[in-house]
Amino acid sequence: MTSVFVTGGAGYVGSHTVRALRRRGYDVTVFDNLSSGRRTFVGDARLIVGDLRDRDAVRTALAVRPHAAVLHFASLIQVGESYADPRKYYEHNLATSLNLLGAMLETEARALIFSSTAAVYGVPETIPIGEDHPLRPVNPYGRAKAMVETVLEDYGRAYGLRSMSLRYFNASGADPEGGLGECHDPETHLIPNIFLAALGRRPELEIFGTDFPTPDGTAVRDYIHVSDLAEAHVLSLEHLLAGGAGGAVNLGTHRGYSVREVLARAERIAGRRVPRVERPRRLGDVPVLLASAEKAERLLAWTPRFSDLDAILGTAWAWHSGRG
Ligand code: UFG
Repeated sequence: MTSVFVTGGAGYVGSHTVRALRRRGYDVTVFDNLSSGRRTFVGDARLIVGDLRDRDAVRTALAVRPHAAVLHFASLIQVGESYADPRKYYEHNLATSLNLLGAMLETEARALIFSSTAAVYGVPETIPIGEDHPLRPVNPYGRAKAMVETVLEDYGRAYGLRSMSLRYFNASGADPEGGLGECHDPETHLIPNIFLAALGRRPELEIFGTDFPTPDGTAVRDYIHVSDLAEAHVLSLEHLLAGGAGGAVNLGTHRGYSVREVLARAERIAGRRVPRVERPRRLGDVPVLLASAEKAERLLAWTPRFSDLDAILGTAWAWHSGRG
């Protein structure tokens, strides 16, 4: 059985990927500090509770058994917080990655799947965004992710550490089979916030920005179902283990929806009106983010199966309303 080591495997995208890996027969060790992840999300994978800032802890955990590859999800994810407290982001998202890579170099593990983000591109110059678009991140969250990508290129050349940086667009939805879903604290993402307002768990949905240069004035995003992201990780892992070349790959759908479109569709699915209030734009939000998904489809033979908006919203609603 092939063994893989998964940081952040108790978190949102990590736990969906752990489930996909277990279904595919991998032996999975999760390393997670449970600061935002849940123990129950790990399922029947092995869990080591530890913090990537502790270099010895990660070294010891990784050396317990030979791992064919590492999947690195553990990360802070709030763009707004990263402006206010950049040190936290460089310490949690950059320094921790150096600790992990250093530990890998002391073992046989030479393949890594890294959770990167569309935020590495900054303000898009062309839409859809291809992987060759310049990287000009505009916030510390995106900068730390782009820095890790650069480190990975250098470690690849110098130490033969092969890696893929998967640049997620807007991860959303929940496992159609239930038991896993999105639960950040505080929650900042659009779809959970719509459903939390629908359920009365927050007073209203705040619509951030109604003066963007888009057809209805609200920002357009490329929403990708978390189970499709999970599948792309398994395919990327298989690609690397089969000797395929590493590099950066967008994970998105090439289709965009505005905040108002998502809200209207979500109200239909929930069968209730969502109280809302219009607010100014959030710092750093761009009008439109749309992926070119052509490379993932070609390189990994990846086809999103759950990423139409109704499937995303239907599974998210099931999760938030307690039926998922
Ligand atoms: N939005 C609202 N109200 C909310 C939450 C969000 O109007 O309560 C709007 C945002 O302003 C944005 C859109 O809905 O226009 C989507 O916002 P999200 O917070 O759901 O997602 P982002 O596009 O801001 O962020 C996502 C990832 C980040 C990543 C970024 C790439 O969550 O990790 O894409 O730029 F960095």
